Amino acid sequence: MLTARTAVLVSGGGTNLQALMDAQADGGLKSGQIALVIADKPGAGAIARAERAHVPCAVIPRREAGFEERVLAALAEHKIDMAVLAGFLGILSGDFIDRFPGPIINIHPALIPSFCGKGFYGLGVHRAALDCGVKVTGATVHYVNAIPDGGRIIAQKAVDVLPGDTPETLQRRVMEQAEWILLPQAAEQVAAGIAEEKEKKL
Ligand code: GAR
Repeated sequence: MLTARTAVLVSGGGTNLQALMDAQADGGLKSGQIALVIADKPGAGAIARAERAHVPCAVIPRREAGFEERVLAALAEHKIDMAVLAGFLGILSGDFIDRFPGPIINIHPALIPSFCGKGFYGLGVHRAALDCGVKVTGATVHYVNAIPDGGRIIAQKAVDVLPGDTPETLQRRVMEQAEWILLPQAAEQVAAGIAEEKEKKL
């Protein structure tokens, strides 16, 4: 069976990358093959996870000149069909999105359109949700377009906020109950569409 060659872009600890690699190992992600990890932060925990799984990993620091050109070159070199932003904290330009021919999807740790857009990432998202007093939050997987967190929604899952939650406890619950389940499922859905198109072209 043909698969969608998938790149995972990361900035942090890489628990969502791990969920994708675990899903590939247990058959939950079967239409997509994780062929490349790109980390924009040297020392990110995700790099060690990629290395342990023997997945090629390119470290391309976001602050260095030519960052997007170098990422596009790596994606082309590895013949990547789709990109998954899994805790990738940079914002990709419209030019980048136009030039990468495949879909790009992103996981965001809130129910878009709440607590999203420029400046909302990581623990800050959960802090904002707690400050607002919401009783339910969650995670969203969406297509990436030029508007931060503005692309069409693929999947969402709600998670309860509990009394006494801190940003850290809420982040952990959202990861466990939503992100690590939702992202592999959404990646499989998008990859299946690409794999089907590839089969048709044979
Ligand atoms: C995850 O909660 C992810 O949803 C979030 O960063 C965390 C990365 O954790 N992403 C964003 O906030 C993007 N706007 P991980 O490195 O362990 O996957």
